[in-house]
Amino acid sequence: MSILAELRRRFREVLQSWGEDPSDLLEMIRPSQEERFGDYQANLAMPLGKRRGRSPREVAAELVARLDVADMAEPPEIAGPGFINFRLRAEWLAKQLTQAVADPRLAVPLAAHPKTYVIDYSAPNVAKPMHVGHIRSTVIGDALCRMLRFLGHRVISDNHIGDWGTQFGMILYGYKHFLDAEAYRREPVQELARLYRLVRLLMDYQQAKATLAAGGLQARIAEIKAHLGKAGVEERTSDHGNKRESSQTIPPGQEPPIRRAMRKELQAHLEEQQELEKKVTQVEQSPELLRLAQEHPDLEAKVLAETAKLHAGDPENRRLWQEFLPYCLAELERIYQRLGVRFDYTLGESFYHDRLAGLVEDLLARGLAQVSDGAVCMFLEGFDTPMIIRKQDGAFLYATTDLATLQYRMQTWHPDAILYVVDHRQSLHFQQLFAAARLLGYKDVELQHISFGTVLGEDGRPFKTREGDLVGLESLLDEAVARALKIVSENDDAKPDGPELSPQERAEIAQRVGIGAVKYADLSQNRTSDYVFSYSKMLALSGNTSAYMQYAYARVRSIFRKGGLQPEQLRTAGAPVILPTEPERNLGLALLRFGEALELALEDYRPNLLTSYLYELANRYSVFFEQCPVLKAEPDSLRISRLLLCDLTARTIQKGLELLGIDVVERM
Ligand code: ARG
Repeated sequence: MSILAELRRRFREVLQSWGEDPSDLLEMIRPSQEERFGDYQANLAMPLGKRRGRSPREVAAELVARLDVADMAEPPEIAGPGFINFRLRAEWLAKQLTQAVADPRLAVPLAAHPKTYVIDYSAPNVAKPMHVGHIRSTVIGDALCRMLRFLGHRVISDNHIGDWGTQFGMILYGYKHFLDAEAYRREPVQELARLYRLVRLLMDYQQAKATLAAGGLQARIAEIKAHLGKAGVEERTSDHGNKRESSQTIPPGQEPPIRRAMRKELQAHLEEQQELEKKVTQVEQSPELLRLAQEHPDLEAKVLAETAKLHAGDPENRRLWQEFLPYCLAELERIYQRLGVRFDYTLGESFYHDRLAGLVEDLLARGLAQVSDGAVCMFLEGFDTPMIIRKQDGAFLYATTDLATLQYRMQTWHPDAILYVVDHRQSLHFQQLFAAARLLGYKDVELQHISFGTVLGEDGRPFKTREGDLVGLESLLDEAVARALKIVSENDDAKPDGPELSPQERAEIAQRVGIGAVKYADLSQNRTSDYVFSYSKMLALSGNTSAYMQYAYARVRSIFRKGGLQPEQLRTAGAPVILPTEPERNLGLALLRFGEALELALEDYRPNLLTSYLYELANRYSVFFEQCPVLKAEPDSLRISRLLLCDLTARTIQKGLELLGIDVVERM
């Protein structure tokens, strides 16, 4: 039972008897933002009043008079211009909780209209090591799958890996020229990764050299510097440090926008120059690397040629690709195992390769694409640039593959929705893809780009290692687990009756706590914003962290252990829940809101609404636990009711974390 759905159902009846279309009005019944306004608030009297040309307060009064909620709520109050406030009755809540106790779904209703979802997430480009940037898509996508499935939807998870791109050209070239055969035999994945990094390094070096030699960047820097004058250039530096007072400094806010834009541009160019110089020194510092770079000029063109040969069906490159791919997949799988993530399908870019030529021809024949300057383009309404689906040289693009993928998914699974969990930088791509899909005739399917921001280091920049690479996903997990182990051990050592956990237990708990912390920290962010990655914050035992939630869970479990009680027996005994005090009532209400939280989170695909819910629940539990003795409560009926609340809290936390892909621990 969802309280919100129940309230809306009752409103719907009244509205329909008035001949009103309730659909958009019902949305205006929501949980109250503030406790003093009751538990739920309905704001629909305002639009309704407008519609009917009557005062909203009057409309509200009439709605309340007709509404039949006496069993569930105190008489509704009308406030301000016509808000209707509800406070639920404790007896009614208690009755719902008694039912929830016996329900393996914790009273969360199944979706009234189950849908089919295809969820496209994780999708790394294989053959290069996964880095911190891959965590978000993987974790958010996995949580959405779990939440939707729990509500009874059919979910098809599809890992659209990049297994056909330039990175294979790089490995092919590396394999043919730089292979350490012995290392490849021993540890193929590591050797392939080394080859990738080596070729990347040399390519970056050559590109950086060429850019610097061309001199355009330096010229632009000099030009802007001249424009801004000496004072203007210095302002840039003073932005970051303490403001230096200077007669020439223009007070902030009064600087003409053009100057500000120029300073920003200068800053960006200077950073770029620095990056390029770094790439050059990295290679020139090592005689060995420098020799390789000189012996293999024009690496980029050579790599592209290897990729093109692979795509054209060159037998050797195809054979090598087939040899490499299983290694790459096994490596991915290893990380997914660690993360507890699994996919129904892994249909990567290569799977669609044979369909691309036909797709483009078909679109040309149907007049949906046009040849322009030798390239095949789709001109889409509302976009300045067309979407190119075949280049002049005949090569296909990312967009072509995505179009073929979409078509395949529609034909194979007939989904109601396809969700693409991909970072925000690809938003134009997806807007165009969706517009193209509509042109192809896929009008009814819900297409969503579940976009997300960047993971930043504590310096507020993309999270990189000292060497300047993005932090590797594995090392990040290792570090989180190592720190979790330390925390778990310290916590255990500090127990009043001495440590409880064996070294193995500590290690297992640390895995769950460490990986859970990384996932939860990510999921608890508003997904569209960037966030700063901080081990210490994410592993804190208090605050909105998974460790706090796991700790709350473990504490409940320890009550049962202490009391020598079996929660399963309690659940089936059928004893009623009662809510005589305010903390019990508040906890009980939170427990009944689990389904509602899930629905709200899925409205806009925001797992952070589920984490906020869990946090609120854990906080209410902790107030309850401080103020309401459990094992010592008298009489028996009260003790049992409180135990049932404890148990339901533990189960809700466990289920909630499970839907986020996080395991609980029995002890901590
Ligand atoms: N492999 C791509 C990348 O790393 C992401 C793919 C996302 N999914 C898709 N259907 N385009 O950028």
